[in-house]
Amino acid sequence: MTRVKVVAAYLAAGASIFSFSARAEGDLNLICSADVVICELLQETFQKETGISVNMVRLSSGETYAKVRAEARNPKTDIWWGGTGDPHLQAASEDLTVEYKSPMLSELHDWAVKQAESAGYKTIGVYAGALGWGYNTEILGKKNIKEPACWADLLAPELKGEIQMANPNSSGTAYTALASLVQIMGEDPAFDYLKKLNENISQYTKSGSAPVKAAGRGETALGIVFLHDAVAQTVEGFPVKSVAPCEGTGYEIGSMSIIKGARNMDNAKKWYDWALKPETQSLMREAKSFQLPSNKNAEVPKEAPRFEDIKLIDYDFVTYGDPEKRKSLLERWDREIGASAN
Ligand code: F6P
Repeated sequence: MTRVKVVAAYLAAGASIFSFSARAEGDLNLICSADVVICELLQETFQKETGISVNMVRLSSGETYAKVRAEARNPKTDIWWGGTGDPHLQAASEDLTVEYKSPMLSELHDWAVKQAESAGYKTIGVYAGALGWGYNTEILGKKNIKEPACWADLLAPELKGEIQMANPNSSGTAYTALASLVQIMGEDPAFDYLKKLNENISQYTKSGSAPVKAAGRGETALGIVFLHDAVAQTVEGFPVKSVAPCEGTGYEIGSMSIIKGARNMDNAKKWYDWALKPETQSLMREAKSFQLPSNKNAEVPKEAPRFEDIKLIDYDFVTYGDPEKRKSLLERWDREIGASAN
């Protein structure tokens, strides 16, 4: 072999050894149901730290649940991070996710551990946040509409066509709103309320945070969303004010689950442990995600709405995370609200 050929052969061997070792860490197929900015930051950071290549898609909570259910015989997803806890609990109770006890459990807040215990450790809490709304102060000011402080105020005729919320079939935020109202008012009065509210709704969006992003940009006056998503708009510099409703409100335990039959099970467990670390959860602030982290040692962003300042209901996650309950509430919503939606 000539010297040139030896060098070429050596380089080729070296290159293939290198690409083998880069690939040796394998892949991870992730569905992320939180805001796309934190999803991308987590994806990049995990890739950098572990060499595992992460294929990520952002889907809303209800959409993810439907996908995981549809793919149960041939799962294409390894891990589901973020999104409201109810559909994670439903997936757990339908045995679509895997029991796993992370060594990080002892560092987590009780609410996150309780979520895991109630599902036989087939899901776990990664963050929490309360429901409310954000409104555009300039629009309400110009139209001389008084600040809506209570759920009842959202029915004011001046707000006709001025409110957006998401569709509870696709969005965990909107399902949390539906389940919270049912818990606050009782089911029939909650549906009467939602029918009246429908008069003021211009659009039911797919993703939960879209309504307050639209409010920030002046496309609607008010969005019913998690308070941390409203705060994120204010921090971005938009004229958005957050409101925690006076009658009380529900909250989410944003969750994480490993999918049963995951093709990259070891990598899914690596992500799971990593996502519960304080350093990982402290990244949320950088992405302007202002939920409360589940690790007690993670940094709580100063902008995060605190539970002690909000009138919270004792949200019944077990009942409203049950597949039958969710199905019946969503069918009723489709029949009585969705069918006549604008
Ligand atoms: O934007 C972040 C967030 O509000 C999370 O806190 C929550 O889990 C998720 O979005 C819910 O999104 P969706 O309503 O689209 O399912």
